[in-house]
Amino acid sequence: MSLILGLETSCDETAAAVVQDGRWVLSNVVSTQNDLHEKYRGVVPEIASRAHLERILPVIDEALAQAGIVFSSGTAIDDSPRITAISVGNRPGLIGSLLVGVSAAKALAWSLGVPIVGVDHIQAHLYAAALEFAEDADHRSGRGSTVPLMTPTTSELGFPTVTHSTSNSTQDLLKYPALGLVVSGGHTSLFVVSSPTRARLIGRTIDDAVGEAYDKAAVILDAGYPGGPKLDALARKGNPKAESLPRSLLSSATLDFSFSGLKTSLLYKVRGHPIGRGEKAIFPRSNKDLSPERRADLAAAFQQAAIETLIIKLERALDVLSQNGESVWSIVLGGGVSANSLLREMVKDLEHRRGIPVLIPAMPFCLDNAAMIAGLAHHHLAEGHHDDLELPAIASS
Ligand code: KG4
Ligand code: ZN
Repeated sequence: MSLILGLETSCDETAAAVVQDGRWVLSNVVSTQNDLHEKYRGVVPEIASRAHLERILPVIDEALAQAGIVFSSGTAIDDSPRITAISVGNRPGLIGSLLVGVSAAKALAWSLGVPIVGVDHIQAHLYAAALEFAEDADHRSGRGSTVPLMTPTTSELGFPTVTHSTSNSTQDLLKYPALGLVVSGGHTSLFVVSSPTRARLIGRTIDDAVGEAYDKAAVILDAGYPGGPKLDALARKGNPKAESLPRSLLSSATLDFSFSGLKTSLLYKVRGHPIGRGEKAIFPRSNKDLSPERRADLAAAFQQAAIETLIIKLERALDVLSQNGESVWSIVLGGGVSANSLLREMVKDLEHRRGIPVLIPAMPFCLDNAAMIAGLAHHHLAEGHHDDLELPAIASS
């Protein structure tokens, strides 16, 4: 059995979580920095790393407390369950932000005398759908609300005792090899995922990531911050057929994506065609000229185009793989955009149309979180892989 503390600080969420056996989430604490970055309408790296520094210790304390684990001078006391490893998202991300999590993880691993595991953030998004709250498993198994998160009982080995239900849970459906799609602020990538720790890239965006396109579209429409969820909510009020926006890279056979054309088309619909180029461009209109109805319709048209593109590429990937004699047993989604309401609806249609299970993370595990880091670390350890105190923070993927 493993009981792993995970840390995640790659961008603008400071997160810590405790996960048992790579699956059962005993605590999942996320401190978002939206309030700090809102006025800049984007993440400011220096502000992010400073906020991580201030928040990381209280966030870790909260995650341990919720999981019923108590430390005294770095050591678990009494019969409190023991952490068996520390994991940290150490790549890719903002370097100053990553360093905060990596340094905290090293200090904890050293003082507790347990292994440290560096985890790839993107691979962790591909694993997030396999996570379940221990509390939910308890409910399914009919034990009612025994609240194992707050007051775990301990087994002989000192681990929290959680009754595991095997009925129709996500992990039972997540069969490998799977077709994986990571849709986040920095990535739009398709993978063939052969195990929790192994994925082969088969398609990626050649310009903006889909989450980045959402964030920019929200600025164009003045929809608010954070852009993705605000634009999603606005789109639900509009008519997607009121305007047509382009779906890029659909004519050729590629599994790559492109979202910058969609973003530019939206800009021109909102502000008209510019006179001049680049910084000096002058637009005939501003987003202040939009009526509320038109703003919602444009948001809906943007959402329809962006999400349809993802669905079309998923189907194309299934076809390409099958033509190559490579069968996949499931489709797994991860990353912030997998919280999108239309994407969640449309992948369910895809599931029925193609007869293949589609696994989407539970909402708390779509956006950046540390449970996915701790969950994946369990599999690295099971394969005999861990790192040492030289573990680097790596900005690029
Ligand atoms: O995975 P994530 O939390 O961070 C990265 O690894 O980048 O993803 C954040 C991205 C942001 O671009 C955000 O706007 C987008 O996910 N996002 C959404 C929604 N919720 C978050 N995009 C569309 N619809 C949403 N509901
Ligand atoms: Zn992420």
